[in-house]
Amino acid sequence: MPNVVVVGAQWGDEAKGKLVDVLASHVDVVVRYQGGNNAGHTVIVGREKFVFQSLPSGILRPDCRCVIGCGVVVDPASMIEEMEALVQRGVSLDGNLYISKNAHLIMPYHPALDRATESKAGKRRIGTTGKGVGPAYADKAGRIGIRMADLLDQRLFREKLEYNVIQKNRILREIYDAETFSVESILGPYLRFAGWLAPYITDTALLLSQWMNAGRSVLFEGAQGTMLDIDHGTYPFITSSSTTAGGACTGSGIPPTKIDGCLGISKAYCRRVGEGPFPTELHGETADLLRSRGNEYGAVTGRPRRTGWADAVALRYAVRINGMDTLAITKLDVLDACETVKICTGYRYQGDVLTEFPEEERIWHEAEPVYEEHSGWQTSTQGLREYAELPTKAREYLERLSELIGVGFGVVSTGPERDETILMPDSPLTQWYPSLRGSIPPR
Ligand code: GDP
Ligand code: IMO
Ligand code: MG
Repeated sequence: MPNVVVVGAQWGDEAKGKLVDVLASHVDVVVRYQGGNNAGHTVIVGREKFVFQSLPSGILRPDCRCVIGCGVVVDPASMIEEMEALVQRGVSLDGNLYISKNAHLIMPYHPALDRATESKAGKRRIGTTGKGVGPAYADKAGRIGIRMADLLDQRLFREKLEYNVIQKNRILREIYDAETFSVESILGPYLRFAGWLAPYITDTALLLSQWMNAGRSVLFEGAQGTMLDIDHGTYPFITSSSTTAGGACTGSGIPPTKIDGCLGISKAYCRRVGEGPFPTELHGETADLLRSRGNEYGAVTGRPRRTGWADAVALRYAVRINGMDTLAITKLDVLDACETVKICTGYRYQGDVLTEFPEEERIWHEAEPVYEEHSGWQTSTQGLREYAELPTKAREYLERLSELIGVGFGVVSTGPERDETILMPDSPLTQWYPSLRGSIPPR
């Protein structure tokens, strides 16, 4: 059974949650391998809306096991809240949720440091979600992080906490003039969280390996997106984890030889939330149109997102970095109202046109996008489930985009609901999951 990585091809919020939920009924296991509760993955089921922050989007499928891998940073208070809310809505977590012993904890001083750094960063502000994800990964890399397994070892937990509180308080007080923490104020709640989470904490790398050896199929659910990757994104305007396909291995303990494919997710246009370069960003009427039709407001923060045209240069880069075998193009319906639609085919910089995504921050800020213009289709594609039903101009747009980025599309999403989905018959996706054919009912 295939093991496939799902990754965002842009700056996050590409509708990974929708796709993972759709695919989750065709796999045995879904693994989150990086990020934390900075993610917001939306799944719409009829009239119900679920937004997953730390939990994998496969959790709504009763037969699907869900794993939080070692590459994730876990805010236990936020995770328990998410778990309790799900249980209240009738979702069972018993026997189908597993949390890695090696996953690092987000501690109360991490969001405090996140906010303090941002407040003093001026022009270099990143516009983080304020969840403490960056500082938690900084402690992990600095070898002073506290892990899930430590929660279960009171003596070790206290020892590590005491060291960290002394260090963080100095930074908060002396550099940022911000509020400090006492060991006791953290210890009590965290020991309660330990009791709550203990039944779920285990050696998930071993479990995954055993399941794979038994022929189970695993789907790796990326959070954020390629352009937010710590190494391959628009550094420093990125998140602090490996969001790209390589992260699926380090973030779960599964060797690269066990991964069979990669599905990229991209919107039919582009957007980003937070600060940082965005070469195809629009301002004015068209930006507003995409924002309102696409409901482009952050699922976690509610912040308005910046919107722009599809960027074939950045997408081709994402295909290369992740080795994407196929792409899901989402939110096509958002473009229905556009008179013209554009695709960026190059960046003009100092007299040259660059067609490979550059690595220099200055170029991202200063390059002018070179566009190819297509006339819009101006009819509704919302909810369509057959490729042949799409207006010719919409098909031409998708096919041109696919030609420019060098990979075919296996899925076109035409609405947030599970069945507002077009499945292309001969894509790697249907080869990986033959049971997908016929699973999306024709209209
Ligand atoms: P994720 O972080 O990649 O999982 O994406 P988000 O959930 O943050 O953002 C995607 C948003 O688009 C959610 O509100 C989805 O319900 C919605 N959505 C998903 N697919 C479609 C689609 O094809 N059309 C429209 N109009 N909305 C969609
Ligand atoms: P999903 O998984 C979109 C952005 C933040 C900020 C930068 C760093 O739902 O696609 P952080 O809090 O991670 O240190 O913030 O990354 N960001 C996201 N943008 N979708 C996300 O997640 C994001 N997670 C972080 O806005 O620019
Ligand atoms: Mg999101």
